[in-house]
Amino acid sequence: MPFPKTRLRRLRSSPAMRRMVRETRLSVDQLIYPLFVRPGRNVRQPIKSMPGQFQLSVDTLVEECKSAAELGLPAVLLFGIPERKDAVGSEAYADNGIVQQAVRAIKEALPDLLVITDVCLCEYTDHGHCGVIVDRQGRKDVDNDATLDLLVREAVSHAKAGADIIAPSDMMDGRVAAIRAGLDENGFANTPIMAYSAKYASSYYGPFRDAAESPPQFGDRKTYQMDIGNGDEALREVAADIEEGADIVMVKPALNYLDLIWRIKQAFGMPTAAYHVSGEFSMIKAAAANGWIDEKGAALEATTAIVRAGADMVITYYAKDLASWLAK
Ligand code: PBG
Ligand code: ZN
Repeated sequence: MPFPKTRLRRLRSSPAMRRMVRETRLSVDQLIYPLFVRPGRNVRQPIKSMPGQFQLSVDTLVEECKSAAELGLPAVLLFGIPERKDAVGSEAYADNGIVQQAVRAIKEALPDLLVITDVCLCEYTDHGHCGVIVDRQGRKDVDNDATLDLLVREAVSHAKAGADIIAPSDMMDGRVAAIRAGLDENGFANTPIMAYSAKYASSYYGPFRDAAESPPQFGDRKTYQMDIGNGDEALREVAADIEEGADIVMVKPALNYLDLIWRIKQAFGMPTAAYHVSGEFSMIKAAAANGWIDEKGAALEATTAIVRAGADMVITYYAKDLASWLAK
């Protein structure tokens, strides 16, 4: 038997050797930390299905942002839980809405930390859908075009409060163009849009809907979020968003859609974000809590895979942990 000529194992022989030849480097610079803000003072309400994550009031949120900034994280992504919900999500675009208050407070305390705001109506509507509801012969559905106006108002009010990046997650057709026009008309031509472009109707948003108190009260989101079996369609969604003015495109969830992260990055070469969503986070947490999986290893493996697939940015509830692990 001849010895093998190719000895790939030679370059795996020590930590220094592996470090030197590693292709994918996860960096704190790529991580975006999602946070939930609600009314009140000194609130730090644990989210049951997301161990270590909290609903925060503006004051505790600012503290959390300080610790994120100290760890070197460049950005946070804000979700609001309003005082009151109604059919048209009024608090989403109220000047003194919870996210607007939060943005002002963070920007005042930490002007260099990027504040990205999620633009959608589901956290603010009493029916929990991402837009306004119409009745079509007894079947309720989200009205695309009527929703656009409200999303524009929400985006502009976030920008007025000081948001650095606007991130629409609603999946209405035409929302990027509408929001772009709204921002431009209101003096925010320099505010980028990070579009949730390929957002699937996923089962992995369950814990988030707990966290944001936003489960749909009837039906599901399949009439606007993407069908899990479709890949080419994700490229069409991304193409449309770029055409409409998106500066950053996003794939969501991340791990089950690594093929799309790859295809989208290859096809468009755009700044590409991936959302390692609540269900992906909670699965690791639950398995780790049972002693079935090594949490740090699993979280690093998941996020490294997302970057290896082509993501430039990863939105993850593990952002702070990763930042401290990577600093060692
Ligand atoms: C709201 C929104 C959702 C998430 C981000 N923005 C939930 C949904 O669409 O149902 C999910 C994030 C997560 O699961 O971590 N449109
Ligand atoms: Zn929504």
